Amino acid sequence: MKADPAPLPRILVLASGQGSNLQALIDASRERDFPGQIIAVGCNRPGAFALERAGQANIESFVVDHTRFDSREAFDAQLMAEIRRRDPDVIVLAGFMRILTTDFVRAFRGRMLNVHPSLLPRYTGLNTHQRALDAGDRVHGTSVHFVTEELDGGPVIAQAEVTIEPNDTADTLAEKVQAQEHVLYPVVLRWFCEGRIQLGADGVLFDGAPLRAPLILPAS
Ligand code: GAR
Repeated sequence: MKADPAPLPRILVLASGQGSNLQALIDASRERDFPGQIIAVGCNRPGAFALERAGQANIESFVVDHTRFDSREAFDAQLMAEIRRRDPDVIVLAGFMRILTTDFVRAFRGRMLNVHPSLLPRYTGLNTHQRALDAGDRVHGTSVHFVTEELDGGPVIAQAEVTIEPNDTADTLAEKVQAQEHVLYPVVLRWFCEGRIQLGADGVLFDGAPLRAPLILPAS
């Protein structure tokens, strides 16, 4: 008798808004050889379009509305309970616009990824596109990293670059960066599900060896 194939890693996506990265991950996960399954989408905003996308893809979703909690700790505790009930192998932050508590981050150490719209360590936090323009940068981009206690400061796995043209605005840059995110994030998630990337004591391990610098998808 043939042994049952090993179950695919269980992916839980957290989003807050439009969910265009969620959509890219859903599309990728539908490829026949994708080594993981999106089991649920969690959201902190009841009206977010990300929830529609989950519904259209027949993926279970849940909302933990941050406005109903008195503290960050109480919100995170409820979110953690909702996540644990679903028993994911990896949590993918896809435009999840909440600062997470240390307890939450520690609970999922090495199992939580984030996409951030800048070439980290440049421009942690918000308004990254305008800040790149104001600094006169010629190259901007996006990073996928492991989430650690430091906001947008966890070890970077891979980055994708975009060229800043003289007529770019924060809006055009956001569009270009997101297009790159939609390519980069599924690739990194695939590596994670295949067990190729891990968070070691001193940073990212790729195929078991320390990653000395982020992998770069160059600007086209
Ligand atoms: C993405 O561009 C992502 O990089 C950014 O929010 C956007 C969400 O878009 N994330 C952050 O700024 C996190 N610090 P989406 O909802 O269409 O995927």
